[in-house]
This record gives sequence, C-alpha cells and structure tokens, in this order.
Amino acid sequence: MNLLLEAKSLLSERKNFLSSKVIDFKKNFNRSPKLVVVLVGSDPASVIYTSKKGAEAQAIGLEHETIQFEASTPPEVVREKILELNANPNVDGILIQRPLPTTYDLKEIIYWVDPSKDVDCFHPENVGKLYLGLEGLKPCTPFGVMELLKFYKISLEKKLACVIGRSDIVGKPMSALLLQANATVIQAHSKTKNLNELTKQSDILIVAAGKPGLIDHSYVKPGCIIVDVGIHRNSKNKVVGDVDFDSVQKEVQAITPVPGGVGPMTISVLIENTIKAAITRSTNKF
Ligand SMILES: NC(=O)c1ccc[n+]([C@@H]2O[C@H](COP(=O)([O-])OP(=O)(O)OC[C@H]3O[C@@H](n4cnc5c(N)ncnc54)[C@H](OP(=O)(O)O)[C@@H]3O)[C@@H](O)[C@H]2O)c1
Repeated sequence: MNLLLEAKSLLSERKNFLSSKVIDFKKNFNRSPKLVVVLVGSDPASVIYTSKKGAEAQAIGLEHETIQFEASTPPEVVREKILELNANPNVDGILIQRPLPTTYDLKEIIYWVDPSKDVDCFHPENVGKLYLGLEGLKPCTPFGVMELLKFYKISLEKKLACVIGRSDIVGKPMSALLLQANATVIQAHSKTKNLNELTKQSDILIVAAGKPGLIDHSYVKPGCIIVDVGIHRNSKNKVVGDVDFDSVQKEVQAITPVPGGVGPMTISVLIENTIKAAITRSTNKF
C-alpha cells in the first residue's frame, strides 16, 4: 500500500474554513446556524452517531439540538414536530436519523423536511438537483468521499469505478457524483452476478454494502484505489469496514482507513450543508 486516505489531513483545513463562515454568519445575523437532529428510538449506533454530529457541530460554532422520541411514537407526532421546525426561522438544518422504526414509511418521510433545510439531501427535490448537476445541498457521505479523493488528487476521469451498494443515501448518489466527475461507473448490488469479475477490472472501488469484510484481495485489481464506507463493530469490539483491510493492503495504491476515513468526512459535510443552508436562506450566497 502506498497511501492511507485519512480524513484528518484535510479536516483541520475544512474546520478553519467552516468556522470562519460561522463567524461571518454570526456577525451578519446575530445568531449561529442551527442544526436539529431528530432521533426516533434508541438504536445504540444511532445514539452514538447523533452525539458525534452534535459534538462536531458545537466544535465549529453551530447551535445544535437533538430531539429524541420513543420508538413507539406515531409517525404523525414526529411529522408535526418536523413541520414546526420547518417553520422556525432560527432552524437551518434538520436531519432525521436513520434507521427509523419499521412503522415509518421512508417513501413518505423524504417529503417531511423542507428542501431548504434538508441537510441529508433526502428530499426528492434535492435528489433531483443532484442528478441534474444543479447547485444544492449535497448527500453527506458521497460528497465526503469526493472531497477526500479531491484532496488526495485522485483523478477520476477515464477511470473505471465500481460502487458496491445502491442505497438511496450512499450507493446511488455516489455513482451520480462519480459519473459527473467523468468516471465510468459500475453500480453493483446484492443481485449482481460474479461481483469479483467486475471489481477486478475496476480502478476504483467504493464499497458500501454494509457487509463486514466483504472485499478481500481476491476482489481487487493490483494498484486500485479503495474507499471503504462500511462501519461495523466486530466480535472483538473493534470498528471495521466492508473491506478486509489486512487482506487487500498490499495490493492497493490507496485505501481509506476505518475508522478515520469516510465517517469523519460525512459529519464534516453535514456541518457544511447546515452552514450553507443558513447562508443560502438568508442571503442566497455561499
Ligand atoms: N461512513 C459513513 O459515514 C457511513 C454513512 C452511511 C452508511 N455507512 C455504512 O455504509 C454501509 C452501507 O450503508 P447503506 O446505508 O448504503 O446500506 P444499505 O441501505 O443496507 O445498502 C446496502 C447495499 O449493499 C448491497 N449489498 C448488500 N450485500 C451485497 C453483496 N454481498 N454484494 C453486493 N452488494 C451488496 C445492497 O444491495 P440490494 O440493493 O440488492 O439489497 C444494498 O444496495 C453500512 O455499513 C453503513 O453503516 C457509513
């Protein structure tokens, strides 16, 4: 392995940039941009992610609030709260933490948050803008991956990229951004036949399958670049990704670590989106 694509190398630069935007916003509008995270239930991983988002928001100078509902709360009650937050001029970003209880219909929930406050980029209006290459709020994880690749000067043009996973929040928007960067994209999923024949041809693998250790050396082309989006805790309580790091590391040109790669970038883009939403709603400029 030649290069470990760590987030920390660009996070301090991003923190300085984002903090300066918050200071300017405060001077102009006499308040900080505000992020509200809505959590339904107490899924342990969601509780940890939510508190990390809050801590990072505060470190950059944002106002932050987490609103937690019991898992048994009817969807109408949560929707009422979201509509209240949509109408509150001092709330800039709203995020509904996933996963939600199974009684919640995701196809309906994506319409709840006002598109101008939709810092997770789930609303169909923002998803549409993304696919059309129009200016708007960015999907946090895929955009964080793009920022990481840009920072490490990994060019995408003319490269064959394989995205493993087709979720609405990671896999699909990831492919859209890679395509816009002139990569040729394979979108793989659980029904893909002979996955390793596709991955072994690919210059770049973005792995977001939610399956710990799915990708080992038998899936990789020597000299490829791997971005591991997966996050899991293994039986030894160690945080691991979808890629078997030890198995592939000798083969690859570069790889993201887990933890310390895509995860912190996702949070950083969430903060950026909140500041952007605040500024855009107030001045139409970022
Ligand atoms: N680092 C971060 O900040 C961050 C952010 C979000 C998510 N994550 C992590 O990233 C992973 C993926 O998240 P997600 O929300 O996209 O997960 P998801 O909604 O469960 O989607 C997983 C995708 O992977 C595909 N898949 C599953 N098994 C596969 C296999 N054996 N071969 C090929 N494709 C397979 C599924 O295919 P089908 O569509 O056919 O079912 C699905 O499209 C999870 O570990 C999650 O915790 C990390």
